[in-house]
Amino acid sequence: MRERNMPLRSRFNYYQNLASALAYNEEQSDYYTTLAGEWQFLFLKSPQDTPDAFIQGAYNSLEWDKIQVPSQLEFAGYGQPIYANIDYPFPVDPPYVPYENPTGLYYRKFSYNKQLDQQILRFDGVESTFEVWLNQQYLGKGQGSRLMTEFDISEMLKEGENELAVRVSKWSVGSYLEDQDMWWLSGIMRDVSIVEEGEINDLKITPFSKGDNWFIDVAMSVETAASFKSHLYFQGERVSQYKLGPQAAIEVVDPLLWNQETPNLYCLVIELNQELFIPIRFGLREIQMIDQLMCLNGLPILFNGVNRHEFHPKKGRCLSRADIWAELCQIKRYHINAIRTAHYPNTPYFYDVCDELGLLVIDECDIETHGFPEETTPAKDPFWQSEFIARGLRMVHRDYNHPSIVIWSLGNESHFGENFVAMAAAIRKLDSSRLLHYEGDRHCQVTDMYSTMYSSLAELEKRASQKITKKPHILCEYAHAMGNGPGNLQDYQELFNLYDSLQGGFIWEWKDHGIYNEEQQNYLYGGCFNESVHDGDFVLDGLVLPDGTPSPGLLEYRQVIQPVSFHYNQGQLLIRNKYDHQPLKDLRVKIEVVTQQGVVLTEEQPLSLIEPGGYSQVMAIDCPNVVTGYLTVSLIVEQGTAIFPKETVFAQDQFAFSSSQPVKDELEVVETRHDLTISGSAFTLSFNKNTGNLASFVKGNRELLASELAFSLSRMTISNDVEVQKSWHDDYLDELYTRSESFDFVVDRGTVILFVNQSICPPVASWGVKIRMEIWVNDQGISYQVRGWFEGEKPAELPRIGWELPLLEPVTQIAWFGKGPGESYPDSQQHTLIGHYRLSAKEWRFPYIIPQETGNRSEVSQSKLSLDNGQELLLSSVGKFNLNVIDLVKEQNQRYRHLEEKAVENRGIRIDLAVRGLGSNSCGPVPLPKDTVYSTPFTGQFTIA
Ligand code: GAL
Ligand code: MG
Repeated sequence: MRERNMPLRSRFNYYQNLASALAYNEEQSDYYTTLAGEWQFLFLKSPQDTPDAFIQGAYNSLEWDKIQVPSQLEFAGYGQPIYANIDYPFPVDPPYVPYENPTGLYYRKFSYNKQLDQQILRFDGVESTFEVWLNQQYLGKGQGSRLMTEFDISEMLKEGENELAVRVSKWSVGSYLEDQDMWWLSGIMRDVSIVEEGEINDLKITPFSKGDNWFIDVAMSVETAASFKSHLYFQGERVSQYKLGPQAAIEVVDPLLWNQETPNLYCLVIELNQELFIPIRFGLREIQMIDQLMCLNGLPILFNGVNRHEFHPKKGRCLSRADIWAELCQIKRYHINAIRTAHYPNTPYFYDVCDELGLLVIDECDIETHGFPEETTPAKDPFWQSEFIARGLRMVHRDYNHPSIVIWSLGNESHFGENFVAMAAAIRKLDSSRLLHYEGDRHCQVTDMYSTMYSSLAELEKRASQKITKKPHILCEYAHAMGNGPGNLQDYQELFNLYDSLQGGFIWEWKDHGIYNEEQQNYLYGGCFNESVHDGDFVLDGLVLPDGTPSPGLLEYRQVIQPVSFHYNQGQLLIRNKYDHQPLKDLRVKIEVVTQQGVVLTEEQPLSLIEPGGYSQVMAIDCPNVVTGYLTVSLIVEQGTAIFPKETVFAQDQFAFSSSQPVKDELEVVETRHDLTISGSAFTLSFNKNTGNLASFVKGNRELLASELAFSLSRMTISNDVEVQKSWHDDYLDELYTRSESFDFVVDRGTVILFVNQSICPPVASWGVKIRMEIWVNDQGISYQVRGWFEGEKPAELPRIGWELPLLEPVTQIAWFGKGPGESYPDSQQHTLIGHYRLSAKEWRFPYIIPQETGNRSEVSQSKLSLDNGQELLLSSVGKFNLNVIDLVKEQNQRYRHLEEKAVENRGIRIDLAVRGLGSNSCGPVPLPKDTVYSTPFTGQFTIA
């Protein structure tokens, strides 16, 4: 028997005219005929039980049921679903499967009028194996459940009445490669159609750029060397026309690029003799590795993704176009920008929607052999090699014209071996315009990125900060959304933002796969069908319920990935557009201040368009007489789109609020190569752009600073520092070098907002502190909002975390609100009380006979320091800080390796976020963990005026 399986190729359709081609909906093509609908059906225990009449084509002698195609048998009442994560629910005896093998015989008649020379019968997905007969003749078989199978039926298709019969079995040799964590289901679960074709058999479009110019490479497979007319359309408008041979490169003038935010789609329509039209949509974009980062059109990608199975609680993996459209719009609405098609190629329409809406796709091959032990894994067994390669190529061939696909994934949880190496090579040969992913390739032998699942924050941080992997790192799965959860989304997002090499991840997973039970009106999971092998509720691990109801986990995800950042300081608000390509528009700002008494201010104002990466104007929030309250800022959608309907809360954030003075003074800003100088009527200050530090602060025409306000970690040791002092010395905590990694600022009349990233490191070692500061300067002072973290082989424990402000003049008086009057440390503060205090600098420190650290005041929120020359310095915080006035002479004598000559008493001020407890380690224990300062991430706020 000659099988008529078609060679591998992309999936496309012919249309009868330009208008229908541009509509890009195969249902509108005269050359597409769906065979979906009602079929005759017989359910058998095993393919072995197939009646002879079926094989012989005596279909009328059989007694048929009826079934809808496409559908899943188990949802139509034939057989039972089985949910298993890892284990195979049948004996692992490849290539055999049991005699008990749920099987469906499908049969239908249809009448057909041929229009063109070639007719192809196309199956988009059948689980897990099938054989086809057309008009009693055997056509061939199909395998690879979620891949396309086509048969050339040109010779066998008759004018008028035809008969089509299909036998589908649930288990096959292919099932061994389809051990994904999901329901085992079967049946013709995707579309079946007949498509008619002209002389173009295959078509591949590859966009590429040269400098600023963009081209597409068009490769057609045709028997003749004919050339074809083609039309290039952008958003329904024709932009150009060409004559194309089978191989052509054409330039796209005035190119508009495709990306996940602005998915500009072009459509190339190839015309054959004014009769046949093939539309192929494409996007101008390139995926490349640049400086060891995955980039889309030159910009590093951050995947804020989800793993998505195709699943519907009443239909299984059989989804309609409307289901897919609605689900992907919902995904976009939650600001998710990427989908991994866990764990198999999806229904073709899925990719059309991703192209259109702008979703980055990791297209994953239908291979998982999770239930095999490593030793016998198919990835290493030559028996399976050709099937691995075939599945990879079938996916890539089918899908390669989709701009949304940026990465091919070789499969999931199948260990690693030669078969993946061969598969990767074959894929790269066919399509080198995408990157390759496979989590099981632990040493990135064939993949472009290092991919892990469920890595802890510590593990991720370690890899990234110590640059353990050369290739970028993504989490193809993380944050298991089972039941109530996942936690820590904010922490993961912070890490992704902090390290370039962490290019984001994909939450496991989008949706719970609960099967709806009409009678009980509830959802069923593993075990509910009396399966002997099952994994219970492990199948309910999504961010949405089976019907799409968002869980709190999804709300959390949306909040941490929202493409807007809000910046607030003392009555002033700044909004930033975090998109790389898309402006923020069609939004209004809603401001609300709430106190214990209720909402005291609601205000709305329009938001002018903000360019990608840009900032709004600084907005003043005037709400007098609020002592403590909260400010909620929301961006509300005005007109709306399919994705963001009118009145959707697009993004929001909240800040602690108290009434503040309106900013009146205008500022003057001068930037030079090394400095940024800001002057108001009462002060002039400047930042050193090389370090990012405040370098000069002139009030009343007199400089206050002896040197830069710098981050520091050390202090004089105390008698109880016995165990720690040597390592602190060896770690050079007292000699830190500060480098500014980036230094940006926004000026808006009376306010300058600086965004400064610093890297602070000791000599010798390779650990360091990374600091991100937002510094607001206006006539009320200099307000720091700081986030920091440690990386590398950092010391575990630290004396303190804070800043030192070296002054030109000694401090004479200190007034403060906080704990006092005496000194206090985390484990010795019961004797102090919060209050307003005033002391002279002479009374500030306790005269320990052996000079050592002394003088810390905790829980300070306000302080006024008077200097010898009559100047004053004000320190405050919306939170609390530790304050100390230090004696730079003594400090430096003990701490610093190079002595500064001109050090005078009381000329240093410390603003500390944390200080270490005292303990009694001179002859006893070290401080308790709760009183220890660890090298973990920190945040803080303080204002200097
Ligand atoms: C991963 C696997 C997923 C799913 C998940 C747990 O190991 O790739 O398919 O099983 O764990 O829900
Ligand atoms: Mg698995």
